[in-house]
Amino acid sequence: STIDDLGDLRGKRVLVRSDLNVPLDGSTITDDGRIRASLPTLQRLLDAGARVVVAAHLGRPKGAPEDRYSLRPVAERLGELLGLDVAFAADTVGESARSTVEGLGDGQLALLENVRFNPGETSKDETERRAFAQQLAALADAFVSDGFGVVHRKQASVYDVAQLLPHAMGGLVATEIDVLRRLTEDPERPYAVVLGGSKVSDKLGVIDNLLGKADKLLIGGGMVFTFLKAQGHEVGTSLLEEDQLDVCRDYLRRAEESGVEIVLPTDVVVAPEFKADAPATVVAADAIPSDQMGLDIGPESGKAFAAALADARTVFWNGPMGVFEFPAFAGGTRAVAQALTEIDGLSVVGGGDSAAAVRTLGFDEKAFGHISTGGGASLEYLEGKPLPGIDVLQED
Ligand code: 3PG
Repeated sequence: STIDDLGDLRGKRVLVRSDLNVPLDGSTITDDGRIRASLPTLQRLLDAGARVVVAAHLGRPKGAPEDRYSLRPVAERLGELLGLDVAFAADTVGESARSTVEGLGDGQLALLENVRFNPGETSKDETERRAFAQQLAALADAFVSDGFGVVHRKQASVYDVAQLLPHAMGGLVATEIDVLRRLTEDPERPYAVVLGGSKVSDKLGVIDNLLGKADKLLIGGGMVFTFLKAQGHEVGTSLLEEDQLDVCRDYLRRAEESGVEIVLPTDVVVAPEFKADAPATVVAADAIPSDQMGLDIGPESGKAFAAALADARTVFWNGPMGVFEFPAFAGGTRAVAQALTEIDGLSVVGGGDSAAAVRTLGFDEKAFGHISTGGGASLEYLEGKPLPGIDVLQED
């Protein structure tokens, strides 16, 4: 059901699960994309006269408060963007939360402190999770699920609470699912997928699934060194997952058998250490010196990746091509982002990191078909895995 199905919301307390898990440098938000993506649903509820209670997480605290994971800076930014005072509760379901929610008038909004400061949020024990969900549910009359980035998590504020309150899918989740569905159901061809990021092991399921669906698979980022090693090249001190070498060999073999074109970098930007000002050199991908680590795909590879994407009608990209946070190693990510802006068709940027990368590198979000707020969530959708936070909304 949608927000409309919840009926007249004036004066009703509506608990909204948003994904406000933004990158922080100290208490400075370095990319507020997820906060901005959460605004339309919140605004809509405020306009309807609801008393909006937002639940969200930041980082991965271990079930107890930690200053560096406080949502306070997020509350401030949210208030600036909405143009209203956001009441911030210093706890999630305790005294502060109860009195903050009680103090809300119609069309006002409160943000609760990080849900993951409570062990019940991420507990594997259903009873413990349920108990925490009940405390959350006690703060509201209805629940709106709008944190697309967490719908793959079976957690109290995503999953259990939906079973305890009248609930609806928020507009952000609906839009995200709509776009991802276009990638899985009959995508326009050629369909190219670009994968990066640090670990092969994070992408196993999606590669498995895509080998049967995509026409081209372009691989960069830290994970590419395990592929290069699997091809018999030395990778110096680059990131390497020894235990995934056989898996990578198997992917390369299956790709060849099924006619999926795999594009790997032919040159690499290397440096002696992982540092912004480390001296960067470009070397051939099969000639990485033993004392150097690859921190980006090289310029020749950037061009080759762009050329491989030029005729694509559907592109999904997850994971930066290099350490884009350091300008000397941002070239590959920039080249791929630029290529996506020129696609004649649907281009989707998926993933917290790649979404942050395109904004940090100064690209106009509107130049892309869709920038997903989900990292793991969009990957799991593409893997064909069930998403507990979506399924629970469809249970009745
Ligand atoms: C994300 O950053 O992908 C989401 O906010 C989910 O965070 P998590 O991986 O810590 O559950």
